[in-house]
Amino acid sequence: MTQERQNLIVANWKMNGAFEMANSLLEEVLNGTRQFKSPSIVICPPFVYLQHVAQLIESNSSVSLGAQNCSEHSAGAYTGEVSSNMLKDVGCQYVICGHSERRQYNGETDEDVAQKAISIIDRQLTPIVCVGETLNERQSGKTDLVIERQIDSILEHCEKQLVDRITIAYEPIWAIGTGRSATPEQAQEVHHLIRNRIATLSQSAADGCRILYGGSVTGENAAEVLGQIDVDGCLVGGASLKAAQFIEICRAAQR
Ligand code: PGA
Repeated sequence: MTQERQNLIVANWKMNGAFEMANSLLEEVLNGTRQFKSPSIVICPPFVYLQHVAQLIESNSSVSLGAQNCSEHSAGAYTGEVSSNMLKDVGCQYVICGHSERRQYNGETDEDVAQKAISIIDRQLTPIVCVGETLNERQSGKTDLVIERQIDSILEHCEKQLVDRITIAYEPIWAIGTGRSATPEQAQEVHHLIRNRIATLSQSAADGCRILYGGSVTGENAAEVLGQIDVDGCLVGGASLKAAQFIEICRAAQR
């Protein structure tokens, strides 16, 4: 079933940035996308720049603030952690959770990611839950299994009425930061699988769920992947640090 889903383009700055960079990059991006009626844009800077970026985007209704991670706990003795409550306090509407870099370098498990997603939903924020397979898993024909396991773990923890509050990002790990994007067909295949999996819990949530593609998205390849029926936007790493590239991606995502 086809449904109108507004594209969402998310900039994941990762551990890049400085006040000066935020100022100049955002000025260019805001100017370059002002005339676009869509897509919705989310900027995810490192924690320490969230409030600064919040001020810079304040008057722009199509640009929202997002964080790159949060704790699954709501408060307490968790040194160095940041809760979803705090993120809401500084103006975040979105939180990326379960990015493969966090799964890889910080040992986040499917269970941790599910707990984080729940805590984000509890604060009325939107989790952008990342899933994706390694090159090894793809080459040994395990892509579907891995994706289903990652999606099922979220669905198991999420009450039926909350599933439609989740955004998913499919990010094949072999495509992240490598310059080797998935083909539009490869992306569509996995996005379709994800939507079908969500439909096992709720058809309406599956129809409404935004599923973003991430992994070496550029101004040059964005239009093709966004042309796929089950692709509802992109999670952009490297190219989100280059204003001209990011604007091109947003241009390709207009609907
Ligand atoms: P990339 O990163 O666009 O640099 O491949 C995407 C991501 O990790 O979110």
